Order: sequence, then structure tokens, then C-alpha cells
Amino acid sequence: MKVVTVVGARPQFIKAAAVSRELRKSHQEFLVHTGQHYDYEMSGIFFDGLEIPPPQVNLGVGSSSHGVQTGAMLKGIEEVLLAERPDWLLIYGDTNSTLAGALAASKLSVPVAHIEAGLRSFNRRMPEEINRVVADHLSNALLCPSETAVSNLASEGISQNVHLVGDVMLDVLNWARRRTNGKPAQVLDRLGLKKKSYLLTTLHRSENTDDLSRLSRILNALNSLDEPIVFPVHPRTRKVITKAGCQLKSHVRLIDPLGYLDMMGLAGSATLVLTDSGGLQKEAYWLGVPCLTLREETEWVETVEAGWNTLVGSDPEKIVMTVRSVVPAASRLSLYGDGCAAARCVRLLQ
Ligand code: UD1
Repeated sequence: MKVVTVVGARPQFIKAAAVSRELRKSHQEFLVHTGQHYDYEMSGIFFDGLEIPPPQVNLGVGSSSHGVQTGAMLKGIEEVLLAERPDWLLIYGDTNSTLAGALAASKLSVPVAHIEAGLRSFNRRMPEEINRVVADHLSNALLCPSETAVSNLASEGISQNVHLVGDVMLDVLNWARRRTNGKPAQVLDRLGLKKKSYLLTTLHRSENTDDLSRLSRILNALNSLDEPIVFPVHPRTRKVITKAGCQLKSHVRLIDPLGYLDMMGLAGSATLVLTDSGGLQKEAYWLGVPCLTLREETEWVETVEAGWNTLVGSDPEKIVMTVRSVVPAASRLSLYGDGCAAARCVRLLQ
């Protein structure tokens, strides 16, 4: 098989690490980086740290409005597809790069495979939700991480070519655990942190960063806590914090975004994770660290039902009260598959 894979944003590099490794054992992959994320800490660090082969093409689209960004990707991906004529176009998740890939390929009758199909927040104000819905309706192979995702697709009338494969992010986490022998990365020493003595937070969703009152409420909650908080800051969030002149107390430590192994080392040794990231909610679960999700809803409902994730939104009182009172469930069922999702995806495409 010849597969053109489109990636562009941080979580896609992580997912591609697992699938590219598996795919390239017996097939040809042409990797397109749209350039949606371009800072070394948001892009190159993942290619280096997760040993992802360098992309054949980087479209270099960079930052702009949704229309300009997606339009530039569409043009670039179409050119690649016309030249390469692959058997499949492979896309991940819910970013503008996902949407552009799905649109470009389906107009050229190139079959589309979507990894992480079927997730829904049921909140159409999120750009990610729009990207997911459109990508799923254009896809020819829908590779789902959970039963919930399969049933979300059924509710939208999609039941053909839907496969429950598990989550490829668990494959990547298991790879990282083998790499580090289960020990937290040197990141703890570098940051002068002790195990289980700090909270870890991340924040980047436009629903939080583009609404200054929501962002201020969340930052006020962080300021009101007593525990040291480590906050690797997404460039979008840093820009908004700087522009708005938001003040953070000294126990809230802003650091540059981290590579994958460092981030997993930091997450696994934290007492709690506070985040609006989709991936980190699951990683916290797999690592056995309770999570507070800084959103009103989540696509990863199983982590909430399991008693390890709490939706706290942006209400400072609720955030502070939950940090002080959270007790995770006594047990942890295995969620989102068995860590062999990538091989299953490749077999299905084959
Ligand atoms: C995107 C995805 C989101 C995903 C997230 C992971 C969309 C609509 N959203 O949002 O689903 O969870 O990636 O991080 O595709 N920026 C930099 N340097 C970079 C990358 C971005 O400074 O390397 C800045 C840009 O200037 C822009 C902002 O961050 O102002 C947002 O960039 P965008 O491309 O919208 O991506 P994310 O917010 O990361």
C-alpha cells in the first residue's frame, strides 16, 4: 500500500509515532506536515523524541484564521495527492489539518481513513467538533478508540466501515514507558521537583483562551491554590496571558511546552492534572493520576464515569474545592484498548 498521512499539530505527531512505525514495516508512507504547528517545542521536538521519520513535505502554512489556514492546507494536500496517487489518505483527530486532508482527498476520490473517528463533545462552538463531524462523514475507514465513538457515529447514520481499534495514544505511552524503564524522565531533576509534590496544568482550547473572562477565572483558581503548579504553556495561551497582562502568583510556574517523554514523566509524578487537553485526560487516567478537566464537557466520558476525571469548567470555587477534595475511584479498569491499536489500524487498511 501507499499511504499519504497528513499531520500538522502536536497531538497528531504523537499519534503518528505509533502508526507510522507500524505502517512502514511493510508499506510505503508519504508524510505531509501542514506546518500548522511550527515552533520546535510544538513540532520538531516530537519528531526527534518519538523517532518519527521526517516529513517528505512541509506545507509551512503557519498561523492564520481558520479559512486562510485550512485553504492553504487544502491546496497543498491536493497537489501531493495528485502527484502521489495513494491507496489511502490517513488523518488523525480533529484539527484544521484533519479537515483539510479529508476534504482534499474525498474530492479526488482518494479513500480517507480517520484515526480517532466518532468522538463528539456535542458543542459546535468548538472548531474541533466541526472538524470531526465533517472528517467522519467524508471517511471511508472510521477507526474508533471507544464504544462511545462507535455509537456516536451510529447516531449520525454511519455504521459501514466503522471499526473499534482502541487508542493509538496508549501504544505511544507504552513505547515511552519501555524507553524510560518506567522511571520519570530527568525533567523532575531539571525543574527541581519531587514526586507527588505538585500539580500539572495545561490550557490551550480556544473556548478557554479566546474568552478572557473564562481564562481569568481559571487563572484566578490557579492563583488561589496553595500547591506548586507546573504549567507548560501553549504559545496561543502565552500570547493571550501576555497581551491581557494576567498576573500569576509565584507558585504557578510557567514553562515552555515540553517534549513527550518529559511531559509523561511530569504527568505521572504529579498529584493531579488540570487540563483542557483531550490527550492529557486519557494519559492521566492511564498513569493513575486524577484529572480535573477545565471544560464543560468531554469526549472522553469513560474517564469521568470511571471516577478519575471531573469536569470543573472555569468556575474558580468548583476548581479549588475539587482540587482539595478529589478522591479517585479505588480501581481503574483498562480503557481505550490494549495498546495494540496501531497494528490493528494498519491491518484494516491493508
Ligand atoms: C490545534 C487544534 C486543536 C488541538 C491543538 C493541539 C485546530 C482548530 N485546533 O489548536 O484541536 O488540540 O492544536 O495543540 O486545528 N502557535 C505558535 N506556535 C506554534 C503553533 C501555534 O505560536 O508552533 C500559535 C499560533 O500563532 C496561533 C495559536 O498558537 O495563534 C493557535 O494555533 P492553531 O493552529 O489554532 O492551533 P492550536 O490552538 O494549537
